Formats: sequence, structure tokens, C-alpha cells
Amino acid sequence: MLSSGVVEWPMTRKIIIDTDPGIDDAMAIFFALASPEIEVVGVTTIFGNAHTDVTTRNALSLLEIAERSDIPVAAGASKPISSEFRGPAASVHGEDGQGNVGLPAPKTQPIEKRACDFIVETVMDDPGAITLVPIGPLTNIATALEMEPRLGEALGGIVLMGGNAFVPGNATPVAEANIVNDPEAADIVFGAACPVSMCGLDVTEKHFMDGETLDRIASYSNRRARHLSAILSWYRDFYREWMNIDGIYVHDSTAIAYVLDPTLFETVKHPVRVDTTAGISRGKTWPAVRRSADERPWEGRPDVTICTGIDSAAATELELSALSR
Ligand code: BDR
Ligand code: CA
Repeated sequence: MLSSGVVEWPMTRKIIIDTDPGIDDAMAIFFALASPEIEVVGVTTIFGNAHTDVTTRNALSLLEIAERSDIPVAAGASKPISSEFRGPAASVHGEDGQGNVGLPAPKTQPIEKRACDFIVETVMDDPGAITLVPIGPLTNIATALEMEPRLGEALGGIVLMGGNAFVPGNATPVAEANIVNDPEAADIVFGAACPVSMCGLDVTEKHFMDGETLDRIASYSNRRARHLSAILSWYRDFYREWMNIDGIYVHDSTAIAYVLDPTLFETVKHPVRVDTTAGISRGKTWPAVRRSADERPWEGRPDVTICTGIDSAAATELELSALSR
């Protein structure tokens, strides 16, 4: 499958992963770390699947498991820009965000910089080179964009997991979890002055790993896969109990697969606004599908590349081949 409008894709991409680990976040982080085409230059943390102190500890532990504690971790915001945190997703990811496996405390500490400062400094020091890969609520990214008006133009791009353009929500009937956790932030990010690619539920719910595939991950003998095997058992139970399926939707890793090979995806381009009102569709991502050039509130907003389809088998092989290393 071919995505529209992607012209050049550098051989190696420097990325910052902004994350709320999270079981599928752990998969995505390990997938990126084991992919030679990607250089992870930093991990920034955010509330979402758990509170930020928990997700920060998890990020440090995950890097320890991957023997990549050389990568800086910067702790991010503990609440949305202008609302209160809706609360952790303990039924999906466990009280500890990692399937209640009881990870020992990490030996390392986050750096003494806030996530938004780390993002601004790292990107402005290496203009054009860095892609942000947010796989949690977008508070840190929006704060960084607001702090440094030149940041958008200095970014190589943003490839995010979040939103639902043409399908229902998962956190509410109409909104996806990462976006509804900070709709004001998401609306800022979808207006950023760089290429923004959205891997939302439109594509992540078409990227399914069945029970057999999860068993394959569990059979790998490296430390990352052993941790994934433990936490995926919790995640798999959640899907069994709540959705009556044996297997998982591959949410966060889909953004990594897009960074690695956008030709696996089908896409459309539209400007996207986020509902930031207090009504029932708060957090819904709205693409302007049929629009005239001056239609408000999409007027002047850039096109977002919205992923709508994926070669799921090929993306799974890409991920499994990385996780097996
Ligand atoms: C998103 O919400 C979180 O629970 C997952 O980690 C993923 O980032 C899916 O809607
Ligand atoms: Ca996540």
C-alpha cells in the first residue's frame, strides 16, 4: 500500500518519544529501540495511563530493561493545560501502568529538565532533524510549541498516536483516550507548522495482533520480550474480558511502524480540529473533509496526514523482527 504525499524519508530518523507507559507504550519503546533505522534521542513522560510520577518510573525501568539508560528521560506535565486529569487507566494497564507485574524501582533518575524544555532545547539544537513521536496525551508537545514559536518549523515532523477521524472513540463513545485527556493541547498540536501524521483509532484498530502472535513475542528469550510477555498477559486479559477478543489492537507501536515505513499505510489529508467544548463530543478529532478554503474554525489550518489503513501483517512482522533481536 502506498501513502499519499510522502516524498522523502531519511534512512535514519532521530526521534523523541513522548509517552505514558502503559503496556502498548512499552511495546512501542522497545520496537523503536531495537530498530536500527531509528535513533531515540530522548524519552519524555506524561500522565495518561497512570500519573506522571508512575509513567516516569516506568520509562526509566523500560530503558533499564533494554540496557539503554544512556537515553535521557525528562518528566513532563502532571495535568492537562487547562483541565483536570481524568485519571489513570488502571483496568487497561494495571495500577502501575505495567500490568501490575511489580517492577523494581529504577536505579536511574530523570534529568533535571522538564519535558517541554528538553523538547525545545533538543529540537532547536538540531533543526529539521528530530521527529516527535507522542503516544500519550499531547500536553508536553503543545506546551513546547507555545513556549518556542519557531519549534514547529524546526521539527522534522510529528507522528502521533491519537484521535479518531472516521470511527468511534474508545475512552468515550466519540473520543480517543490520548486526545480526550487534553483536547486543548491536541488542538494546538494539529495546527503545528510541520508535517503532522495521525495514527489514530482509524488505523490502530485495523492493526491487530492475535493470540498466536502474542505467544510468539512471549517465546523470544531477550529481556525486553520477557517483560512484554509478562505485561501483555494482563493486556490480553483486558481485551478478552472487555471486548471478547483474543488479541490486541496495536495502538502505540503503529506510530513507530509509520516512522519506519509509511508506505505500509493508506492516508488521507485534511485539516483537523479538536472539540474543546465541555459537551458530549469533547476530545473528538474533526477532519474538515468537505470544506471551502475559508471555513471556520478550520480556516488557515494545515493539512494533517490521517492514517486510515495499514498492511497489518507487514507491520506486525516489522515489529516482531525488532522485538526478537
Ligand atoms: C492510547 O491510549 C492509551 O491507553 C494507549 O497507551 C494508547 O496510547 C489508545 O487509545
Ligand atoms: Ca500510550
